[in-house]
Amino acid sequence: MTNNHEDIWIDWVDTLSEENYLVIDDFINDRELDIFLSYFQDHLNENDFKKAGIGTGTEFQLKSQIRGDYIRWLNREKDTELSDFFARVDEAIARLNRYCFLSLSGSEFHMAHYPKGTFYKRHLDQFNHRSNRLISMILYLNKDWAAGDGGELKVYLNGEERKIAPIAKRVVLMRSDLVEHEVLETNVDRYSLTGWLLYQPPGLTFLA
Ligand code: OGA
Ligand code: NI
Repeated sequence: MTNNHEDIWIDWVDTLSEENYLVIDDFINDRELDIFLSYFQDHLNENDFKKAGIGTGTEFQLKSQIRGDYIRWLNREKDTELSDFFARVDEAIARLNRYCFLSLSGSEFHMAHYPKGTFYKRHLDQFNHRSNRLISMILYLNKDWAAGDGGELKVYLNGEERKIAPIAKRVVLMRSDLVEHEVLETNVDRYSLTGWLLYQPPGLTFLA
């Protein structure tokens, strides 16, 4: 690609390192958006989605009070319709490794559907029992998102709060271990491809 493209990535990476989060509009083009959306729709119709963080009994109740989304994990070998998306993810990994001297070595993504009335309470994306999620990456697919539809991503940054609308083709990157965030209650169906860029924890290098 052109130097211009490289410069843009250097700016993005700078912003991400300084602010711990980054919003990129028009990260994909309209053709890609249509392909990803129709793939998403096909799987919604097939009822392939499972309630996120599902448990039983009391646990189920509690989890629903924390998050109400439905997810379907992606597999880059099988979900070939999304190969352009995975190419974008790989580019992000390569750029971050190059300009931030990171050693990201993989990713995990799922489709996420928040039906009307659902939300995800304030949280961090790194869990104690598994902490190799370094960067959270969310691509929004909501073509007709309008003010008042809700479902904004709210990020908490050292006392400051920002609300980010989940509009189509917008990507948000943020440090999974540092940026607390929440999904505000959505008033319409809300769609995204959500995932994490992973680094190999030192203790697990023998598995590589
Ligand atoms: C998550 C999450 C944010 C969003 O899945 O952990 O915080 O905007 N998603 O969908
Ligand atoms: Ni999150």
